[in-house]
Amino acid sequence: MNSFVYQNTTKVYFGQNQLNNLGSELSKYGKRVLLTYGGGSIKKTGLYDKIKQEIDKSNLQCFEFGGIEPNPRTTSVEEAAEICKKQKIDVLLAVGGGSVLDCTKFIGAATFYDGNPWDIVLGKAKVDKGLPLLTVLTLTATGSEMNSGGVITNLETKDKIGNRLPFMQPKASFLDPTNTYSVDAYQTACGAADILSHVIEVYFCKKQDLFLLDCIMESLMRTVVKYAPIAIKEPTNYEARANLMWAGSWAINGLINGGKQQGWSCHPMEHQLSAYYDISHGLGLAILTPRWMEYCLDSTTVDRFNQFATNVFGITVDLSKMEIARIGIQCLSDFLFKTCGLNSTLTSIDIDSKFFVEMAKKAANGTKNSYKALTEQDIEKIYKMCL
Ligand code: NZQ
Ligand code: ZN
Repeated sequence: MNSFVYQNTTKVYFGQNQLNNLGSELSKYGKRVLLTYGGGSIKKTGLYDKIKQEIDKSNLQCFEFGGIEPNPRTTSVEEAAEICKKQKIDVLLAVGGGSVLDCTKFIGAATFYDGNPWDIVLGKAKVDKGLPLLTVLTLTATGSEMNSGGVITNLETKDKIGNRLPFMQPKASFLDPTNTYSVDAYQTACGAADILSHVIEVYFCKKQDLFLLDCIMESLMRTVVKYAPIAIKEPTNYEARANLMWAGSWAINGLINGGKQQGWSCHPMEHQLSAYYDISHGLGLAILTPRWMEYCLDSTTVDRFNQFATNVFGITVDLSKMEIARIGIQCLSDFLFKTCGLNSTLTSIDIDSKFFVEMAKKAANGTKNSYKALTEQDIEKIYKMCL
């Protein structure tokens, strides 16, 4: 195991009836709060009213920025940062899924920057602080509630880019599984695919001395495989929503990395699909991941795929390692496309090969240190396998 530093400073309030702590947590950082949210799901569910009540009870002054898009845009970051500057906001409260949380992280950073916020996303701007951020998560998927990363889309340049800045780590996050009861089957499935991918990106690695982390990752994946189908069929099943929610946070809060330097594979490829076609992140990952696996499977990687098939999907048949590895990939496909009901091809969501060359070029910037290093040509082939 490599040497590493692990620190996670987000305080988590997990479970029901935790919002009564919201006012006191916000008050630690000041009086003027900017509440951010997405396209309106929090108004439909009544969460917006509950949050406003808590803010009022604590005599805080509340400003609002709603309408943050899925695959949030740099223009939203810019607009909201202007509000923060003008209204001298002390603290941010993001209520929503990963898109709202990510956008709000960059709003906090852009408040201390006079140039174009896109520079911050690109890592070009020197910004070393942001507004303190609290989150109330309403969709289990990205893990943004417990990490310092965010992903922003620039429609003008057709780029979707992520960056991690330590000061964007939420100070506290409220994780109430009942806030995800209203998430529909499709978004629940996309979320499941995203969590699985966060683990898979790390699990498929060349290091062989990470037994503890392997076990944790296999448990996280098994949790998703067990509970996503239940949450899809029974949206108000607390046990399923709670297990998924906690798995989502731990899949990408730094724990499972164990000092690994390895780059990711499917995320860089997926971000191009979302940037060019504005599709759900989890759907893109679902379509890509089994094809990427097929592309990577060979005599040098077969042991890892064999372990995945055995420990995640319980395949114990008396076959060769290669055959078991292939069954594991098929099990993942069946889970994503049959059990969770996600579309299985790019063609079925109206994506053709028109931009594959330029998308592959952009994606290849992020795949040089991947499990299997992927060139532009490799990525183009994988996109084609997804048609
Ligand atoms: O906008 P509203 O009206 O809230 O509706 C949203 C949106 O339409 C809806 N939704 C959210 N909570 C709901 C709900 N609908 C009903 N009931 C609820 N309780 O779901 C739709 C999708 O929401 P979104 O926030 O876009 O989904 P997700 O959480 O999957 O976030 C995706 C974004 O996060 C980025 C992705 O690239 C994408 O831009 N990621 C962020 C990461 C991070 N910060 O670490 C890592 C990930 O790999 C990922 O890249
Ligand atoms: Zn993801």
